Amino acid sequence: MKQPEVIIIAALAEANRAIAYNGKLPWNIPEDSQRFQELTLNHTVIMGRKTWENDLKQHPLKNRRNIVISSEPQAVKVISESVDYPFELLVFKSIEEALEKSQKSEKIFIAGGASIYAQALELADTLELTLVEGNFEGDTFFPEYQSLIGSQFKLVAKEDRPGFRYETYKRIAR
Ligand SMILES: NC(=O)c1ccc[n+]([C@@H]2O[C@H](COP(=O)([O-])OP(=O)(O)OC[C@H]3O[C@@H](n4cnc5c(N)ncnc54)[C@H](OP(=O)(O)O)[C@@H]3O)[C@@H](O)[C@H]2O)c1
Repeated sequence: MKQPEVIIIAALAEANRAIAYNGKLPWNIPEDSQRFQELTLNHTVIMGRKTWENDLKQHPLKNRRNIVISSEPQAVKVISESVDYPFELLVFKSIEEALEKSQKSEKIFIAGGASIYAQALELADTLELTLVEGNFEGDTFFPEYQSLIGSQFKLVAKEDRPGFRYETYKRIAR
């Protein structure tokens, strides 16, 4: 059976790799949010418990399998789905367990936050990064990845937008 593609998807400040400040994204880029929705639709999305609690619990990703990672799965609040709002929510104790239980997925997106990105960098096949220009204050950061470019990942696509750009990297070695 074909292995799922493991894709890190993140928006980060180009200057300092900030991904959040005070529990919120430091920017509002509707086009990037739309792209996140489009890329992840009908796939599996893995996130840390804090990202779930802060960002997604109120609006779980519809028509996707939401997976939350927590050391206390029973404490993660599960909202029941409705006919109008179909989504799936599973809670696992580790990223490895989540990946193991998602082997039938074609694509598995790793959607943060910082602690999950840091652990997933060595597992990822693809990086879908949105690099935001400018100086943003941050208290939560994407892991250092630039030193892996050339040795473990190569840039395969780049799309410029006003004030930000998309960069896609594919793994070339482990
Ligand atoms: N810019 C972006 O693209 C982007 C994307 C996503 C999130 N964010 C931001 O990132 C921030 C959250 O990042 P964060 O690093 O603080 O939190 P996080 O990664 O979302 O969640 C951390 C929690 O995940 C669980 N966890 C992580 N690794 C685990 C492991 N190996 N085993 C078991 N459980 C594990 C733990 O939950 P328990 O404490 O329950 O054990 C841990 O406290 C938010 O502000 C969010 O807005 C930004």
